[in-house]
Amino acid sequence: MDKLLIEGGVRLSGEIAISGAKNAALPILCAALLTSEPVTFTNVPRLNDIGTLLRLLEQMGVKVSRDGDTVTLDAGGVNNPVASYEMVKTMRASILVLGPLVARFGEAQVSLPGGCAIGARPVDQHIKGLQAMGAEVKVEHGYVHAKVPKLKGARLFTDMVTVTGTENLMMAACLADGETVIENAAREPEVVDLANCLVAMGAQISGAGGDVIRIKGVPALHGATHRIMPDRIETGTYLCAAAITGGDVRVTGTSTCYLDAVVDKLMDAGCEVIGERDAIRLKAPARLTSVSLRTAPYPAFPTDMQAQFMAINAVANGTAVIRETIFENRFMHAVELQRLGADLRIDGNTAFVKGVERLQGATVMATDLRASASLIIAALVAEGETTVDRIYHLDRGYERLEEKLSALGARVRRIR
Ligand code: UD1
Repeated sequence: MDKLLIEGGVRLSGEIAISGAKNAALPILCAALLTSEPVTFTNVPRLNDIGTLLRLLEQMGVKVSRDGDTVTLDAGGVNNPVASYEMVKTMRASILVLGPLVARFGEAQVSLPGGCAIGARPVDQHIKGLQAMGAEVKVEHGYVHAKVPKLKGARLFTDMVTVTGTENLMMAACLADGETVIENAAREPEVVDLANCLVAMGAQISGAGGDVIRIKGVPALHGATHRIMPDRIETGTYLCAAAITGGDVRVTGTSTCYLDAVVDKLMDAGCEVIGERDAIRLKAPARLTSVSLRTAPYPAFPTDMQAQFMAINAVANGTAVIRETIFENRFMHAVELQRLGADLRIDGNTAFVKGVERLQGATVMATDLRASASLIIAALVAEGETTVDRIYHLDRGYERLEEKLSALGARVRRIR
């Protein structure tokens, strides 16, 4: 299993390019299942999660061709609308094939994802929505079996704001008979990017980015070309890395417009954040000020940035209160940060983090994707060397992480 060795103490400076967004690419690649014509995607990040999804699509009969960050998918010959447990267990986002498969083929068998490190993460809202659209859905032997001659437009209301739930139902509704209205829809930029792609494929969608999305079903979608939006979480992660080291960094191919809540907190922490046309420059003070935060659905502070902000608060001046409201078990990084010398206390879904003058390098274990990012950020300022074990989580979601960090001056090495 690969490990990363990081020697702390370097002030990051320079420029790096941000990759395409993992969480936009995953649903958008699944959208190719909605048409028999080839669809081409550009700015697709080279990540393990993307590789897993492409393998899953291939198993279904999708022809995949890949050239650098361009991926073309041809779902004209799909003959197996099944997502096996073996695939879904390695990546929960595989559930995103459910909506498109039922919409185009009238049936699907998709393994239930099961729990994961950060919480139970059920998919009941995805199922409830498809049922409201007329599908017969049974959960048997760990699989969701959905069947319907043709989905019908319906008014859908989800109990909570769910990102992949909104995406699955929006894709399903594209080929349904009549109009579907999704109320309490997720407003995340990735939902908007998916809607833009679907519209380019001939779908009729309005309201994406707001909490009511209307989709008028059409008989068929067609091929298109779509560029994946920049990864706002990768962007935020590098901004935090720059901030904690007192650095001066420019990240390109991205924009502050997807990151208002995060940029606000970085400025509260004492950083200067300058939004340019297609880039963001961050200049950090020698020591950050603590920032309290509460995670919530977009446009509020993203849960996917909570762990990284715990790391910067660990060495900031003051005490921060961090409330996690989306996932029930998303403080796994806290105990690992304590191994590096962080002074923090967890009480239910709240973390109290008292900034210390310095952290010390140690061996720590990555437990999930964003937890791993927080350990890397902390390691950048820890005295001496930190070994981050189990970094396969990082490879799921950060493209060429050590290369990008090294380009900013960090001393990072991968041990295979
Ligand atoms: C997506 C993101 C993930 C991010 C999360 C929250 C992708 C591929 N992943 O995950 O990085 O952390 O949004 O911003 O885009 N829930 C239910 N029933 C459901 C669906 C969700 O109870 O049917 C609950 C979840 O357990 C969670 C909350 O709703 O507590 C929000 O989850 P959701 O927005 O669905 O997260 P994902 O789409 O899985």
